Amino acid sequence: MKLSYLWKGLPGHPIHPPLTDATIGAYTAGMVMAVASVIGVAHTAAAEGWWLALVVGLLVTSLTALTGLADWLTIEWGSPLWWTATWHLLSMLTATGFFLVAVLVGHSGYKHGAVESLPFILTLVGFVFLTVGGWLGGAVVFVHGMRVLNLTGEPPGRAVSPVPHPEKEMAEGG
Ligand code: HEM
Repeated sequence: MKLSYLWKGLPGHPIHPPLTDATIGAYTAGMVMAVASVIGVAHTAAAEGWWLALVVGLLVTSLTALTGLADWLTIEWGSPLWWTATWHLLSMLTATGFFLVAVLVGHSGYKHGAVESLPFILTLVGFVFLTVGGWLGGAVVFVHGMRVLNLTGEPPGRAVSPVPHPEKEMAEGG
């Protein structure tokens, strides 16, 4: 067992991907509720839900970004994988900035039960960057193959168990 498993996860079970699901889920819920509020569906409840979902997204983002950073630091500087991962990083940090400003300037809308124009636009732009960043993150994993073990013959019991796969730890730089 290595100490780095605490922030990187195990070979075959990285920590960043499940956190990204929670982060993107919270921001997506926020986006949906912002639209619902603006078009007048459950106006007040949707506005409150929008703001709270963005706050939850921001809180989870701190862990998501740190675990992503731990993996990003292991990539060879200037390599094609590094460039894709760095564009992913920049896109996600930009998205986070837009969501953060939306939460700050949208607090009065939360209190009055309405998503105002500026925070709505900030949420929308943040969501566009989140989508682009998600696409780039997908490329890091599914095109470059980062943190993918590809043990197609691994028995299901070993594939799902939280044990390291020593035969692939070297390849992962572990
Ligand atoms: C809002 C914050 C972030 C979100 C929502 C996010 C989302 C994602 C997604 C969707 C993937 C593809 C994996 C999958 O499909 O589950 C991914 C992979 C990755 N991301 Fe992020 N990311 C975020 C922040 C960051 C940051 C700040 C960095 C670097 C400093 C980073 C580095 C990586 C790396 C290296 C991978 C490759 C897979 C891994 O190492 O676990 N991410 N990210």
